[in-house]
Parts: sequence; C-alpha cells; structure tokens
Amino acid sequence: MAIDSQTLTYRGRLVHMVRTHQFTRPLLEDIFDVADAARLLNTSRPGSIYLQDSLVGRRALLYFVQPSSRTFLSFQAAASMLGMSTSEVRERETSSEVKGESALDTVRTYAMYHDLIIMRYPEPGFSEQCARHFIDYDLRRHVINGGSGQDEHPTQALLDIYTLHREFYNRGGIDGKRILLVGDLARGRAARSLLQLLTLYEGVNVDLVSPSELRMKEDMLRLGEKYFTDIRVSDQIDKFLSDADAVYMTRVQSEYDSKDFSPQVDESGYALSDSRYGLLKSNAVVMHPLPRRDEIPTELDRDPRSRYWEQVENGMWARVGLIAHMLGCTERVKSS
Ligand code: NCD
Repeated sequence: MAIDSQTLTYRGRLVHMVRTHQFTRPLLEDIFDVADAARLLNTSRPGSIYLQDSLVGRRALLYFVQPSSRTFLSFQAAASMLGMSTSEVRERETSSEVKGESALDTVRTYAMYHDLIIMRYPEPGFSEQCARHFIDYDLRRHVINGGSGQDEHPTQALLDIYTLHREFYNRGGIDGKRILLVGDLARGRAARSLLQLLTLYEGVNVDLVSPSELRMKEDMLRLGEKYFTDIRVSDQIDKFLSDADAVYMTRVQSEYDSKDFSPQVDESGYALSDSRYGLLKSNAVVMHPLPRRDEIPTELDRDPRSRYWEQVENGMWARVGLIAHMLGCTERVKSS
C-alpha cells in the first residue's frame, strides 16, 4: 500500500523522497532557491568550502543496482558538494542477497552505516518499501528514489522542472506553457514523472507524441486530463512542433523489451532533425533526460534551443537542493 505524503515528511521537511507526488510547488521553489544559492557559492573557493562544510561527517550510500552513470555521478557530485562522503553498491551479486538475505535486510544493514540511501532499483515501489521499513523501526535514515523500474524517477523530474523553471524565468514561468513530450512514453519513467510535476503548474498544455504502441499509460493520461488545460495525443510529431514552448525527447526503452512486447520503432518518424528544428519557435527549449540514441542528432547540440547539456548540470544542483532540504541545511546554504 502506498504511504501518504504526510508520513514521509517531518516538520515540513521530506524525510524520504520516493514518489514524485510528494513534491509540492512551494517545496520545489524552495529547492530551486537552494540549488541556485549552492551554484553561486561554488563559484568561489571560500564559497565552495563553506558549502562543503554543510554536511561534513554525514554519509550517503549510492545503492544502484540498475544501469546508471549520469544519475549515479550526479548524486555523488551533489553529496560531495555538501561535504558528505559517499560509498556505493552497484551489483546485487556482491551483497548478501546471494546468500538468501531479503532485500529489506540488505538495505537495513547498509542503513546502519549511512545517513542517506540513494537507490536505483528495478522493481517499482522498492524505495517506498524501504522508507516504510525505516519509519516502522524508527530508523532515522533517509531514502531517495533514483529511478524505480518503469515507474518513477522523481529526481529526474525535479531537475527537468528546475530546467524549465530556469529557462522560462523571464518568460512568465512554467504556468501557461505548452510542453511536448516525445518518444517511449509507455515505459519511460522520466516522462511519467515529469508529467506528474507539470500538474503542479497553472494552465499548462501538454502534447504527447509516441509510436502508437508506446503511448503514455492510462493512469497518466487520466491525471493529465484532470489537470492540464489541454492534452493532445498523437503518433505524428510535425504538427505539434510549432506550438511547443518546450520539447522533451526520450529514447525507446528497449531494455524492457520482452518476448511478448518488443516494438520495432522507426525513430525517424519522430526524431528531431534540422528541418524539424526549423519548425520550432525561435525561443523553444529542447530537453532530453539522456542517454540519447538517434532522437536528436549531435549536429543540433550547438543550436541555442538545445538545452540538454545544461539540463545535466542543473541535475547536480537540483540534487544538492534536495539533499540539503532533506538533511536540514537549506537555511545555511541560502543565508550565505
Ligand atoms: C533516464 C532513466 O534512467 O530513466 N535516464 C536518466 O536517469 N538520466 C532516461 C533513460 O534512461 O532513457
């Protein structure tokens, strides 16, 4: 059973971040302020030393048993920016799970040595189960979901929304914008979680373009219909490009192919190209959670509308903001 957001919070602070719906707009805005303050601090030596003093002596474990490099390193960098030391477990085979230990016992053991467990795990809901376990046993530890199966990727959504917030800062913010999500919307957790965070903004319009077999699942479509001013679903990209304030590209998540479901997708049907960029607004924002395949050719990286490399960097700062919030040093960072 899902835990309600209240249980995962203590005195207005998130203790665990396991589900995207835990984010509220004021909380996001606070995290953005901390991320901006930390980014600024880090531009000087005394500032970066001050920042690193924030959580010195605290320890984070990166428990990443699904492939990851950017999220893993982004969290590692974020934790060390705040002075935390980090350790890692990247394969279940190296843990006592192979001796028949339950996954919860394994994580509980790790929690004895760390203040924060950041986890990427193939089974949806596992980070939530860990959070519940820590609450039940009154273990004062924190859990962050760094990606759970096809289900959720709350911190990717956090960095995506932080990127949109920065890009639209001088253009009235995210409210009222039209966002085009493209690619494997059925199995891509990044797109699912972003769609969820977009529901926190007013008057947002969303277009969802994917090959028909990779359409966004019903639960998210229903959520979108409830919250967005307008939501359009299609398998054709071209007619949506000129309306978009932001385009969020994703790759086909073929690691989830099975013998029953292995769609043969022709990416050229929706991949961006010079001519498709030509249809975009001059100030549109093009994003991608990465890794990319052929959805965006590298020749387009220099186009000022391509913001995915900035998005990667924003990810580290957004995670600094989140960790600072959860471990209680936002005032220190902001007041510097
Ligand atoms: C995303 C993921 O793992 O869901 N990548 C990431 O965290 N940056 C998107 C993807 O793998 O396609």
